[in-house]
Amino acid sequence: MIETAMSDAEYNQYQRLIYDTCGINFTDNKKQLLMTRLRKRMVALNIISYKKYREYVTHPDHHDEFSQMLNVISTNKTDFFRESVHFEFLKNNVYPRLERKNKIRLWSAASSSGEEAYTWAITILEHLRDAKDKDIKILATDISTKVLAEAEAGVYSEELVRPIPVAQLKKYFYKGHNQWNGYYMVKEQLKELVSFRRLNLMEPFPLKAQFDVILCRNVMIYFDKETRERLVERLARQLTAGGIFIIGNAESLSGIKTSLKYLQPAIYQK
Ligand SMILES: C[S@@+](CC[C@H](N)C(=O)[O-])C[C@H]1O[C@@H](n2cnc3c(N)ncnc32)[C@H](O)[C@@H]1O
Repeated sequence: MIETAMSDAEYNQYQRLIYDTCGINFTDNKKQLLMTRLRKRMVALNIISYKKYREYVTHPDHHDEFSQMLNVISTNKTDFFRESVHFEFLKNNVYPRLERKNKIRLWSAASSSGEEAYTWAITILEHLRDAKDKDIKILATDISTKVLAEAEAGVYSEELVRPIPVAQLKKYFYKGHNQWNGYYMVKEQLKELVSFRRLNLMEPFPLKAQFDVILCRNVMIYFDKETRERLVERLARQLTAGGIFIIGNAESLSGIKTSLKYLQPAIYQK
C-alpha cells in the first residue's frame, strides 16, 4: 500500500524539483494535493514510497516518467470560448490590422487540450477577412504530452463543446455516430490552422518566429513573481512590434517590470 504521509523534508524536495523544472510553485499548503496526484503514477509503477518515486522520476533513464509526472501534477482546466472578451478584443481591435498582412503568426502558449487554439481558429475564420487566402498559423504549445495528445485528436464530448455557438459547432465539427455518439470532432479547416508542440515555458524557446499575438492565459497563476517577470520579458521578445499579449483575467502583470504597454485588463501591447 502507498504511504499515507509525506514528510515535510520530502515535500520540500518535490517543491524544489517541480519549481526548477517547470516553474510551478507548489505552496506549503498543497502537500495533500501533490500526494493525491502522484499516487496515480505510483500505483501504475507499483512504487509505495514518495522518496522512491522521486528517485525513480529523476533518474536519467526515466525521462518518460518525468513527462508522466508533469501530466498528473499540472492543472489543465480550459474551455472553448473561455474568457471570450479576449476574442472579442481581437476581433474588434486586432483582426482589422492583421487583415493588411499576409503572413500571420499566433501563439497559444499554454494551450492545454486544444480548446483555446481551436476557439482562436474559429474566430479567425469567422471574423478575419480573407483568412483562407492568407498564410496564418497558430502554434499551440504545452508542457503536458497528455493534453497535447488530446488536442491533436480534437475529439470533445457534448458537454465540452456546449460553449460553442450551434451554427459554428455545425460548421467546424463532425458530429459522432454509433460508438462516437455524444462526441464531436474538429474538422480539417481548423486543424490546418493549428499545430501542437510540446514546449516548457521555463526553457529557452526553440522558436524562430515572431508572433502578432501571444495568449498566455491561466498558466502564470502557478508561477511566482520572479518567474512571471522573466517569462513575460522572454515572451515579449517573441512579439512583433505592436504585437498583443494576453493573460488570464485572474492574472495581472502589476508589480512586474515589463516593457509591455497596458491596454485593458489582461491585455498588453509591445
Ligand atoms: C489551466 S491550463 C490553461 C489553458 C488555457 N490557456 C486556458 O486559459 O484555458 C494551464 C496549462 O499550462 C500548462 N503548463 C504548466 N506549466 C507549464 C510550463 N512550464 N510550460 C508550458 N506549459 C505549462 C499545463 O500543462 C496546463 O495545460
